[in-house]
Amino acid sequence: NAVSADAKNLRVKLVLLGDSGVGKSCIVLRFVRGQFDATSKVTVGASFLSQTIALQDSTTVKFEIWDTAGQERYSALAPLYYRGAGVAVIVYDITSPESFKKAQYWVKELQKHGSPDIVMALVGNKADLHEKREVPTEDGMELAEKNSMFFIETSAKTADNINELFEEIGKRLP
Ligand code: GTP
Ligand code: MG
Repeated sequence: NAVSADAKNLRVKLVLLGDSGVGKSCIVLRFVRGQFDATSKVTVGASFLSQTIALQDSTTVKFEIWDTAGQERYSALAPLYYRGAGVAVIVYDITSPESFKKAQYWVKELQKHGSPDIVMALVGNKADLHEKREVPTEDGMELAEKNSMFFIETSAKTADNINELFEEIGKRLP
């Protein structure tokens, strides 16, 4: 079972997917440690971190986070991480249309091969780089709506919407 509950303590396996360089590791670092790394190195294979949050109704949610490697050479490993996941967070970079295409690829892949009850979120990261934006907010919203996903734009750099992302996911857990 992807999501297990006892009383009001939820525990869920969450996988982050998306092109290399979109900021997956920085989102996790911001969420778990409150830090930002401007020289973040590419992830090799995947890395694991966990973090527990309290929601307003005093439910706690423990996220067991698999931060996958976005480089193409690792794409065959992805199923190892999204299999059995209760939550998939698909990340793109708002300055990179290519990364948005890759996000569309991941949406399809998860619909084909992910658990049928997986909670999916679409994240447009690097929202602080609004002067370089190439993916309109509306495009993200539309992709998310079509696929019953939660959508949010974030900045791991400024911390904008990072906690909100995980709180909203927590609220959507079955
Ligand atoms: P892989 O591990 O290769 O899949 O990449 P990744 O998605 O984990 O990217 P990572 O988090 O390592 O970030 C890549 C680069 O983008 C780094 O130079 C980060 O500092 C930068 N970055 C990440 N998030 C943001 C953000 O919100 N704003 C800005 N301006 N830069 C960011
Ligand atoms: Mg990474």
